[in-house]
Amino acid sequence: MKRIAIMTSGGDAPGMNACIRAAVRAALADEIEILGIRRGFAGLIRDEIRSLERKDVANTIHHGGTMLGTARSSEFMSREGRARAIEVLEKRGIKGLILIGGDGTFRGGTELAEESGVHIIGVPGTIDNDVYGTDYTIGFDSAVDCALKAIDRIRDPAQSHERLFFVEVMGRHSGFIALESGIAGGAEELLIPEVPLSVDELCSHLQRSFQGEKRSAIVVVAETEEPGHSFDVAREVREKLGIDARVVVLGHLQRGGAPTARDRVLASKLGVAAVRALAAGKSGVMVGETNWRLSYTPLQDTWNKQKELNAELLEMRPLLCE
Ligand code: F6P
Repeated sequence: MKRIAIMTSGGDAPGMNACIRAAVRAALADEIEILGIRRGFAGLIRDEIRSLERKDVANTIHHGGTMLGTARSSEFMSREGRARAIEVLEKRGIKGLILIGGDGTFRGGTELAEESGVHIIGVPGTIDNDVYGTDYTIGFDSAVDCALKAIDRIRDPAQSHERLFFVEVMGRHSGFIALESGIAGGAEELLIPEVPLSVDELCSHLQRSFQGEKRSAIVVVAETEEPGHSFDVAREVREKLGIDARVVVLGHLQRGGAPTARDRVLASKLGVAAVRALAAGKSGVMVGETNWRLSYTPLQDTWNKQKELNAELLEMRPLLCE
């Protein structure tokens, strides 16, 4: 394989640049030309493509965001959109494609792999960590770190004012960020989609806490499909318990900033592995890391199968969140 391409797609995640850098280095070392596609599938359809050299990825490992840009392309969801993308790939002579993204990206990648003769390798890059086939996704550790720093800071006004705070973190339909940042931040309670808790249950838990030694509390809330829903929860709790409750929504802050060391190392490892997988003739798989070893999962499984939260951590949660 003499010419491959790489793109980032979906929500950006800290560590994506480290992954691009590693892939460029690995490809050039094997005398494979590597092209960068701008703005994900949307840029592919519009032929926004240029060659990447070592100098293009110099001094980028510590930068957040993605130097290639990213997008969520509705056009690519249609067969016509993908047909245009395939024309561009053929015109450019691209035989292998590395997709860095999450479940939506891999859904598109699965279809592209079936409809084109191009070899496709996925690399998990999303702060949500909700991709089956890898212990961690690129960007998750940085997002948890960002949420944790915010929780630690909120502790001060929570304690000084003896208040209840709701801190809403990202993660859409998965509670990975909420679970890890909440446990690490010593949250008094977690609201995560995988383990539903009613407002009544939450209130009785908080009441028990406040009847004991606690004068303040932090509840970490996963955003779910409706970002900002913690405002509704806070209002209900305020009405039921008659206590002051404030809300902090972290939102896209969690997607920005420098990647953590763990994300840079994971991204570097997976970037090299993706190029090697293409060179070895692999296609239609996502390269991930499972139990510290490289793993290869059919692209279809990455979005079709549900990745479970850590069962041991969940079991310990009542002990740790009090
Ligand atoms: O998938 C990553 C993510 O940050 C989710 O946690 C969040 O729900 C979503 O993207 C937000 O998407 P957008 O940036 O398009 O608003």
